[in-house]
Amino acid sequence: MPKKVLVFGAGGFLGEHVVAQLVAAGHTVLAVVRPGYSKASPSSRVQLWSGDILDRSFVRTALDSVDAVVFSAGRTWRPGLELGQYQQHNVSITQAFFEALHPCQSTRVVFTSSLSTIGGSAVPIIYAEGSGRGGICETKLSPYDRAKIECEQIAVQRAAGGNNVVILNPGLMLGPGASATSNLAAPFCLLWFLQGQFAARFFVNGGVTLCDVRDVAAAHVAALELGNSGERYILGGHNLDRRAFYERAARLVGRRMPQELPGSLLTGLTTISDGLTWLTAGRVTSPVHRSFARTQPLYYFGESQKAVSELGYLPRPLEQTMLDMIQHYQSRSLLSARFQFPVELTLETAPLFAMLRQLVDRSRYQRTLRERLPELFHACQSNHQLRDALTHLLSISQFNARRGKYRWEHRSAKSDLQVLRKFLEYVYFGSSDFLRKVL
Ligand SMILES: NC(=O)c1ccc[n+]([C@@H]2O[C@H](COP(=O)([O-])OP(=O)(O)OC[C@H]3O[C@@H](n4cnc5c(N)ncnc54)[C@H](OP(=O)(O)O)[C@@H]3O)[C@@H](O)[C@H]2O)c1
Repeated sequence: MPKKVLVFGAGGFLGEHVVAQLVAAGHTVLAVVRPGYSKASPSSRVQLWSGDILDRSFVRTALDSVDAVVFSAGRTWRPGLELGQYQQHNVSITQAFFEALHPCQSTRVVFTSSLSTIGGSAVPIIYAEGSGRGGICETKLSPYDRAKIECEQIAVQRAAGGNNVVILNPGLMLGPGASATSNLAAPFCLLWFLQGQFAARFFVNGGVTLCDVRDVAAAHVAALELGNSGERYILGGHNLDRRAFYERAARLVGRRMPQELPGSLLTGLTTISDGLTWLTAGRVTSPVHRSFARTQPLYYFGESQKAVSELGYLPRPLEQTMLDMIQHYQSRSLLSARFQFPVELTLETAPLFAMLRQLVDRSRYQRTLRERLPELFHACQSNHQLRDALTHLLSISQFNARRGKYRWEHRSAKSDLQVLRKFLEYVYFGSSDFLRKVL
């Protein structure tokens, strides 16, 4: 039945998707955003309300006019933010919300928690909602983990006290949509990886459950009807260590995977940069605080079977999420000219495109051809001889993620390479670059 739903954190990465999917499901939405939120309402069924959850009368007034609530607000750490303040803000908004909610016992609340309240082990252990905390590295947990644990305990207590609260525990969310000013790193990891930015050249192994923000948003909408009060639901999908994640990303886009560093090195470096922050009274800020760096070697793995069977949660393939992120960067002009992708790229055609990029990069005419890659790819898709040569070359090749390159056995690849190289030469000799040179 259509409801009027209040969404806190509606201007955030997850919140915007929740709002869109509530509207698609026929609900009307009162979307609480922060003052300064610059986007227009996405639909006539969405009313934007600017305000702060710490303002209790604002929250009470908002609660009075709705049937249900999605609480997806939270503060993300940014360099320079004092850790105690960061943790306290997250706990305070949760407390303020539940205090205002207390009399509205029948109002259904879907509360966004995190897999951080369940996982965090030194070795890969796949946790379920009912798993105890055996194996968790309690001393290494980050201020984020601690804040989320405290917030979730408030939600559980309120459910036990009679409020109608369903708790969702997403893994690390990837996907399109985060605004360029967001402090979140995950939605931009592929952008930094593609652009070869310093932060994406190294990683510390450890692992997280990866999920798509759109699937998580859909689970929030489903939980309004289907979730059981007082219960938790893990929303994961892909339990991967970072090595496996980067191997898959490297294969998808045809780039060299980042280099692995020992966790102790990252902790050491961030301790030094935190020291610099302290010595310069905050004039130099550390990009990552050591207490977050310390969690990198941990594993936050979870299984989502309960959400799949009770909420109809359906995690999509990880590569599909990655491709959609790339399309999102491209649509926002965040990708440099060197990394343009054809808009029609699919999971099936992406490896072909990566292969063509490699051939172009190895060609003598790469400077001219690189700019025309999407066009060249289009030609390879529509001409059967080119398509067959590229497809066959791919089928006899192996991708080496450390080098970011396909390798093949020269004798078997000879005729495909001849066809494809001739095509690239042909395009180059017809190009204005070539004509300028010879005329
Ligand atoms: N991103 C992930 O991978 C992930 C994974 C698991 C769980 N979660 C949880 O999911 C929730 C949403 O995360 P997200 O990724 O969408 O983060 P986000 O993009 O930072 O969104 C959170 C939103 O809450 C707002 N907010 C913070 N304090 C507020 C206040 N006092 N009053 C009103 N609004 C306030 C933020 O506004 P400002 O930006 O202005 O502060 C922001 O728009 C959080 O609880 C997070 O812990 C996230």
